[in-house]
Amino acid sequence: MNLIKANGYKDLSRKAANVISAQVILKPNSVLGLATGSSPIGTYEQLIEWYQKGDVDFSKVTSVNLDEYWGISPENPQSYRYFMNQHFFSHVNINPLNTNVPNGLANDPEEECIRYEKLIADLGGIDLQLLGIGHNGHIGFNEPDVSFEKTTHVVELDETTRQANARFFQSLEEVPDKAITMGIRSIMQSKKILLIANGPDKQDIIQKALFGPVTPELPASILQFHPDVTVVYSFE
Ligand code: F6R
Repeated sequence: MNLIKANGYKDLSRKAANVISAQVILKPNSVLGLATGSSPIGTYEQLIEWYQKGDVDFSKVTSVNLDEYWGISPENPQSYRYFMNQHFFSHVNINPLNTNVPNGLANDPEEECIRYEKLIADLGGIDLQLLGIGHNGHIGFNEPDVSFEKTTHVVELDETTRQANARFFQSLEEVPDKAITMGIRSIMQSKKILLIANGPDKQDIIQKALFGPVTPELPASILQFHPDVTVVYSFE
C-alpha cells in the first residue's frame, strides 16, 4: 500500500489528479471507476484544468461510477448522475455514451444490478478505481455488515450515512434510504485503487481501515488485501 500525505485539500486533489491523469496518459482507453461526494470535487476540478490546457485527453476513456441513490432521476440535482455531469463529465471530452452510473429509476432494481455487473465485466473490469471513505468505513455504499457483499446490489443506507449526506439535501427526510452500489468484488478486482481521505474527521476511520482487522464491519478494511492501493490523505 502506498500512503501519500498531502498538505491540505488542494494538494490532495492535485496528487490524486496526477495519479488519474498518469493512468489516462499511459492507457488512453482506460476504464475509470469514479466516485461522488465532497472528497473528489477538487480532483475533478484539477483534471478539468489540465484537460483545458491540453495535458490530458478523455476521449477514449470509459467511466463506471460506484453508486447511485435509489428512486431519484438523473435530472434530480441530488442524483449522482447529475453530480458527475456537473462536476466532471460536462467539462471534459469524455464521450457521454461512455459514462455509466447505476440507474436509480430502473423498473426492476435487481435487474439493474445484474445489468451493471455485466457492464463492468464486459468492459474487462476497472483499470483505476477512485474511492472516498465514509465515517463508518463504507466504500461505495457498501455499508458495515456481517459479510462482504460481492456484486452490485441494492443497499439500505445507514442512518449515519444519511445524516452525513443530508448536507446536500434540503432536509434529512429528503435523503433516500436506499442506493445501488457496486459490490466489494468489482472494487477489489480493479487493477488499481486510489483512495482519498480529507479532513480531521477521516483520520480515525483511515487508521482503523488500513491498520486494524479486516472485517465486513469496516468495509474499507478489505483494501488491505488489494495489491495496488494508493491512499492520498490530508487530515488538516
Ligand atoms: C460516493 C461514495 C461514498 C463516498 C463517501 C465519502 O460515490 O461512494 O462512498 O466516497 O461517502 O464521502 P465524502 O467524500 O463526501 O466524505
